[in-house]
Amino acid sequence: MNSMQNGETHFLSEPFCQSETEVEVSALLLRENEKVDPPFEMALRPRQFSDFPGQEGVINKLKVFIEAARKREKTLDHILLSGPPGLGKTTLAHIIALAMNGEMRSTSAPALHRKGDLAAILTSLRPGSIFFIDEIHRLNRDVEEYLYSAMEDFFIDIITGEGLGARSMRFQLAPFTLVGATTRSGLLNAPFRDRFGIQEHLTFYNKKDLLTILKRSAQLLEIPLDEGGAGEIASRSRGTPRIANRLLKRVRDYAEVRGDGMITSPLADYALQQLEVDYLGLDAMDRRILYLIRDKFSGGPVGIDTLSSALNEECDTLEEVYEPYLIQEGLLQKTPRGRVLTSSSLSHLKNMDRQELEKMKT
Ligand SMILES: Nc1ncnc2c1ncn2[C@@H]1O[C@H](COP(=O)(O)OP(=O)(O)OP(=O)(O)O)[C@@H](O)[C@H]1O
Ligand SMILES: [Mg+2]
Repeated sequence: MNSMQNGETHFLSEPFCQSETEVEVSALLLRENEKVDPPFEMALRPRQFSDFPGQEGVINKLKVFIEAARKREKTLDHILLSGPPGLGKTTLAHIIALAMNGEMRSTSAPALHRKGDLAAILTSLRPGSIFFIDEIHRLNRDVEEYLYSAMEDFFIDIITGEGLGARSMRFQLAPFTLVGATTRSGLLNAPFRDRFGIQEHLTFYNKKDLLTILKRSAQLLEIPLDEGGAGEIASRSRGTPRIANRLLKRVRDYAEVRGDGMITSPLADYALQQLEVDYLGLDAMDRRILYLIRDKFSGGPVGIDTLSSALNEECDTLEEVYEPYLIQEGLLQKTPRGRVLTSSSLSHLKNMDRQELEKMKT
């Protein structure tokens, strides 16, 4: 590998010209910073595009970019994947790495505290590696700016020593593809965002795609699931594969304990009611948000900070996890003066009140 010191270029035989202690420290950083997915998600994660239903527009484009890069025998341009949690950003990063025959290295932005953490990973990448950074909007500013030259020209400068003895060493990196995932692309600085040649946004899944995903997961996990049962879970999964898979597992528990093991439509409906997932797919927290705005703030507008303290929940969680689906379903509106309920949410809450009353009567 090629390095430059005080303007001179050096060629290194090792990925990173380090002393033994430095190598040990880097290895430790790699272990600490790299992210491992939970086994359940790993098992259900599609490994190729053909196993990945939904997001057709994004998938078609990615396939072309991958084929073009492979034809040119070049690394793929850097990719930014954005969208709400659980829609398949990490899964796509894995699929891209496999399609490019590249090694994949994963970490998440909060684990990259210092430039050194990033340098340790960057200098050990092989040509064509996919370097995946999750929650990339949380990268600290120093680390983010350090990435700029790595992304643009595949080099980084490393300062050794202090004061007058400080020296800058320039390391040429192997060409790699950075895949960043974020639930909040709006929080990325423009110069950073612009360095991603490919920017794709994932959207909530429709029922048909969720049905396909549920059937595949049921097959892999050997869960008896009929068409009606799959339909019931699909339409109450907030358009999100991760939620669909989670509900499938929980509904299976009810099917085994309260039924004969088969997930049918009535069984799924019963189980989802027990799990407090209503017919729109909203969970207890979604409803808490809506009830709070209706009952304590006269339907809004109410600021996110006020909501956050009233619910005892982080603003980020409200904005990343709960709001996107409520907004897409037309249950909540974001206005310059704050969050406001819509007529759909008011009538949904009325229905829920009616159901509660009936429950109390029986
Ligand atoms: N299109 C899909 N087909 C089948 N399964 C999917 C699909 N998209 C996501 N999944 C499944 O949903 C789960 C969550 O996906 P993934 O971890 O890729 O989401 P994410 O967008 O990275 O979420 P987060 O923002 O929370 O990191 C995984 O178990 C994955 O297998
Ligand atoms: Mg992810």
